[in-house]
Amino acid sequence: MADTVTMDKIVSLSKRRGFVFQSSEIYGGISSSYDYGHYGVLLKNNVKNQWWRSMLQERDDVVALDSAIIQHPQTWVASGHLAGFTDPLVDCRTCKLRFRADHLDVSACGRKPSKRPGASDECDLTEARDFNLMFETTIGPVKEEGATVYLRPETAQGIFLNFRNYLQFSRKRPPFGIAQIGKSFRNEITPGNFIFRTREFEQMEMEFFVAPGEAQRWFEHWLTEREAWYTRLGIRPDHLRLRAHDPDELSHYSSATSDVEYLFPSADSVGAGRWLELEGIANRGDFDLTQHAGHSGQKLEYVDTASGDRYVPHVIEPAAGADRAMLAFLVDAYDEDEIGGEARTVLRLHPQLAPVKAAVLPLVRKDGQPELARRVYAELRERMQTEYDEGGAIGRRYRRQDEIGTPYAITIDHQSLQDDTVTLRDRDSLEQARVAIGELGDELQRRLRAPWRSPKLA
Ligand code: GAP
Repeated sequence: MADTVTMDKIVSLSKRRGFVFQSSEIYGGISSSYDYGHYGVLLKNNVKNQWWRSMLQERDDVVALDSAIIQHPQTWVASGHLAGFTDPLVDCRTCKLRFRADHLDVSACGRKPSKRPGASDECDLTEARDFNLMFETTIGPVKEEGATVYLRPETAQGIFLNFRNYLQFSRKRPPFGIAQIGKSFRNEITPGNFIFRTREFEQMEMEFFVAPGEAQRWFEHWLTEREAWYTRLGIRPDHLRLRAHDPDELSHYSSATSDVEYLFPSADSVGAGRWLELEGIANRGDFDLTQHAGHSGQKLEYVDTASGDRYVPHVIEPAAGADRAMLAFLVDAYDEDEIGGEARTVLRLHPQLAPVKAAVLPLVRKDGQPELARRVYAELRERMQTEYDEGGAIGRRYRRQDEIGTPYAITIDHQSLQDDTVTLRDRDSLEQARVAIGELGDELQRRLRAPWRSPKLA
């Protein structure tokens, strides 16, 4: 099936159907800040719930945490972020744009020439200087020495700060992990590509603590697990790959990192797609626990009470972005086809990710159909996210649900009032089955739980 998706189409659908809006739009917007609308909230929640499910419900060696965004400032000294979480920044004196020196795209520069009379369109770049990506703020009412704190640039450090608490209360011993989802903040020099790179975003991170000799085995385990998570939720395998970092790409804390990358489309149908990072899986060794032990004066090690062995665990970290994952799921699901000669846009989302699972639609707004449809709706919504819609032609109502990715539409028609059955329409196959109202909830749940494969793979 030819892929017709472009980033421009995703941005436009996201706005039209209430997934994602430019933030502060009535004031002209603020660069790279986005607000999630109703369906965006539901979709991102489903992505996060699937991540929690894979970490907590389907395993018994990972526990959950929700740590503070503002942490003790020593955290960032110990972690290396204060000294080293920087990007090289260059200014163009001609077009006044700022660039990351390591991602320099001179063609973007020349395209925005200065309006100053006589100014040249040639790039005229300043020397690169290091720019720390952490947002700084002050704690308390007075801006005084010692009051500076930072918005966390990753959720991971909150996990290391709680390592001792977890050894004490959770009755876990290595190998075990601590998982968290939460907002992180980075003052990116060049954010962009819609919600792919923003200054405020949600991370889904898990730190897995292991005996030093077992780190490589667990690193490989998590590479396999995390890649499989995306394909199980519908990403086409040929649009996903693992890429090992070159030694000069590695973060200061990492001895090995591989990224899960997705083949994102270009903005329009002219440009080529690009492989971009969805998630990094890193072997952080004992770097973080050792650093925090050194700076806090606390022992951060595991002592085996039976053998008396003690060691600083090594850490394997799968670190994903909830917004990036949601974007990849949207892009991968986007499709266009024709029904009865009419063009349709459809999101072929995995049913478990779909914002709305079922839509209840009376065929006409009379003859008792809306009343019966409302009764069906009231029952279904107890069990799943359901919508009721009685306005407009049935074809248009189907189309609207297709565009937000609703896998099942239930139509109440003339026959429904006679024999208590409804039609159940499948978004992808367009098959319509007649189902008894009394069996509808169970039938939908059975379908929602069944293994699913993207029809784009057919
Ligand atoms: N604790 C390790 C860490 O934070 P990272 O590769 O810098 O590693 C992990 O970030 C993930 O967080 C990325 O793979 C990406 O999905 C997401 N992420 C990072 N910066 C982002 C940004 N500016 N906007 C959206 N997502 C971002």
